[in-house]
Amino acid sequence: MGFLRSRSAVTPLRRNGSATATTVSLSSGRRTTVTQAVALHRPEEPMHCIRPGVLADTAESFVAAFGEATASVGRGGDVLYAVKCNPEPAVLRALWAGGVRHFDVASPGEIRLIRQMFPEAVLHYMHPVKGRQAIRAAYQQYGVRDFVLDSREELDKILEETDGAADLGLVVRLALPKGNAVYDLSGKFGAAMADAVELLRAVRAAAPKVGVSFHVGSQMLDPAAYERALALAGRVIAEAGVTIDVLDVGGGFPVSYPGVTPPPLGDFMAAIARGVAALGLPETCRVWCEPGRALVAPGVSLVVQVVKRRGDELFINDGVYGALSDAGVPGFRFPARMIRPFEAMTDAGGVEFSFYGPTCDSADRMNGPFLLPADIKAGDWIELGQLGAYGSCLRTAFNGFDQAKVVEVADAPLLETPGYLLRSCAA
Ligand SMILES: Cc1ncc(COP(=O)(O)O)c(C=O)c1O
Repeated sequence: MGFLRSRSAVTPLRRNGSATATTVSLSSGRRTTVTQAVALHRPEEPMHCIRPGVLADTAESFVAAFGEATASVGRGGDVLYAVKCNPEPAVLRALWAGGVRHFDVASPGEIRLIRQMFPEAVLHYMHPVKGRQAIRAAYQQYGVRDFVLDSREELDKILEETDGAADLGLVVRLALPKGNAVYDLSGKFGAAMADAVELLRAVRAAAPKVGVSFHVGSQMLDPAAYERALALAGRVIAEAGVTIDVLDVGGGFPVSYPGVTPPPLGDFMAAIARGVAALGLPETCRVWCEPGRALVAPGVSLVVQVVKRRGDELFINDGVYGALSDAGVPGFRFPARMIRPFEAMTDAGGVEFSFYGPTCDSADRMNGPFLLPADIKAGDWIELGQLGAYGSCLRTAFNGFDQAKVVEVADAPLLETPGYLLRSCAA
């Protein structure tokens, strides 16, 4: 019956040497449900409910869909999971079980963790601004060969710290104009067109494998954004006059949230296939993508407890300094259901609530609204879904609220995203 672990904030990357100790059985036969776990453990701390079956199925669907899309235009495709999104070992194991073999890593901690857990994994260092020691260790100690960059200084650093290695894969990250993703990522990284052209020529002269990458922004709801970005990449490649070996369309693939149903995954894959086909690249050019949110959001939920009710405001035991940072200023809403295992649920109808988190900061507020039964009260539990992406990994220890439980469950996701699941999960 669902075995429970305790977890303080940000531990997965800190637990050097112990990451492999977590055992995840993907046979869901003996796994508990969220309601059973609440009844058994009566958690007074937030409880993260990992759905290994959902994660593995989502990964399998995504890898298959991307493989079919790239094969339809005569190219090989690789799905790189963006580890920053959720580095919890149980999550990583489930993705591995679903067929993910490539990882977008962006820090020494992520590199160590993945190499330790999966010695055969292919690691790609996709942070455009890296420390010198980090580059050296990645290449010399951890077998990383692919590095992203967006400036000449970064190229020089990579060449120096790998002692002019002859087996590098160098990927130029392009700047994109501000788009309409929920999380815009256009400002921080990326080479502008003219610089990207120069950089592409320089990396072609320095490495046997070169590529171009971009990121359309996270939770991108418009499939055509990938086609527009691919067209820009095509202009850079044509102007540089070089052949490329890798075209990396980044992450950004969206999931469902209350009131938001994205176009089906197939529409994004079709847009990518059209965009790649239009570039007329050599058949040997592989296509990569770097999904984070799409692979893991539906596979983890969070159970919180109501500590106090004040009208339509609920004081709960997790908040914006914990796993619910996206519910704060970014204003994300999450699917919510009340869990009351020891009393009959009344048919009280739904009411819109906002939440306060446990810290003493008044900014620890989540407007929602979160739709819950009108008679909800202190002591009840709430399950919030779609929290596998950028939730648990953004937790802090602020105000001492750093403890959480982690349990593996067999439930289906609280919300499904069109086209992401090959088969429905055991409930
Ligand atoms: C370089 C890179 N790749 C992939 C991702 C994952 O993006 P998403 O979760 O939107 O798929 C990110 C997220 O910030 C990123 O910075």
